[in-house]
Amino acid sequence: MYLSPEEEKMLKGESGDLAREAMRYLVKLGDAFDAKRMIDIDYSYCFVGTAYWGPGSLTKGLLKQAVNQGVRVKVPTTNWNYGFEADPGTQRFVKIPPAAFTQLTDEARLCRKFGIVPVNTCTPYLATDISWHPLGSHISSVESSAITYFNSVLGARTNRDGMAAFFSAITGKYPEFGLHLDENRVAKYLFNVSAKLENATDYSALGYAVGKICGLDIPILNGIHRAKTGDLKALSTALSTGGGVPLFHIPGITPEFTASHRTDDQGLEEKLTITSEDVKAVYEEFSSPEDKVDFVCLGCPHSTVHELSKIASLLRGKKVNKRVTLWIMASPQTISLAKLSGDLDIIQGAGGVVLTTCPMLSPGKPGPFHTFSNPDYSMGNLLTDSAKMAYYSTNIMRPSGISLCSLEGCIDGAIRGRSGG
Ligand code: F3S
Repeated sequence: MYLSPEEEKMLKGESGDLAREAMRYLVKLGDAFDAKRMIDIDYSYCFVGTAYWGPGSLTKGLLKQAVNQGVRVKVPTTNWNYGFEADPGTQRFVKIPPAAFTQLTDEARLCRKFGIVPVNTCTPYLATDISWHPLGSHISSVESSAITYFNSVLGARTNRDGMAAFFSAITGKYPEFGLHLDENRVAKYLFNVSAKLENATDYSALGYAVGKICGLDIPILNGIHRAKTGDLKALSTALSTGGGVPLFHIPGITPEFTASHRTDDQGLEEKLTITSEDVKAVYEEFSSPEDKVDFVCLGCPHSTVHELSKIASLLRGKKVNKRVTLWIMASPQTISLAKLSGDLDIIQGAGGVVLTTCPMLSPGKPGPFHTFSNPDYSMGNLLTDSAKMAYYSTNIMRPSGISLCSLEGCIDGAIRGRSGG
């Protein structure tokens, strides 16, 4: 791989030990994928300091090393969510063990010293200007749902990165391969979407169905004429849940769709139709035989301001059923706007809990509220508006039943303690 004089210097250790290790990792990664050169990136979205994977934390060790060596990020960098530092109140509901809480808050402190802007969210593209990047930008990102949104809705370019995102933050570099190259951003499938899409959960069901067919390949979704931010968030997330779709194109909506992406027979291996029946089949896959509701979980990925406002309008003057726990996930930025608008007060006043964390990663034990990730614990019947939450919660949160339904249906279930009807 060609390296510029600056990159050679990093590799030789002239910019410090950590930059040398980071560059070694990125060169090996690039060599494995036949990258010809490094490219400059504009942004990194990392996992470091954001989730508890056990007592021995690799990311904490790397962060300590960086801070001790006086290394700071080279490009704007944000972190993923756990949110205990952003909202200490989260601990009251998630009840993680004290050792994990201490480790996470220590890592958050190190993240700030390292220069990471603590957005604490799985929807960084909604959070700040730092994490919003236009068509053609090169970035390095984690979190499957965000990767698909960055690539598709913004037209920024990222692979599905892990530690590479951290090493890119240190160096500002990334090997040019995969979705950073034009030739790898071309669709393989054309879907004519005849399904009626009425809300974000329909987009989630659509994405899940299409993702199952595409696997890791790129689809064009033809026939969608309007979509809101929340719809595209839901679609991106479910495409990377049903499959591992990192990029999709929608004629007239996503920025990268051009005349070169034809919707007839040019260069497309598969042409398929997605009907309302296909979308309905996803709802049926996540459909508990019981209509009793114990837990309602919204905001996977983190809610938009508009979604919190909608939830508040549905809860205004009502109360969450005493038997039901209602959790809503959102970024600290979105929550602060909901606070200013008064929506947060309405949601909390009705008995809803708004959290900055990811429920599936909280290593909690059952507390006064239902908590997650305890293999011996069943949380009862779960209602959610997200196919991702429905799919992953099966093994992680172990509900006794799961139902997928619209945001309106979820709030209705939280109020009545029953779904449907
Ligand atoms: Fe976000 Fe957790 Fe869902 S990271 S996308 S809330 S599984």
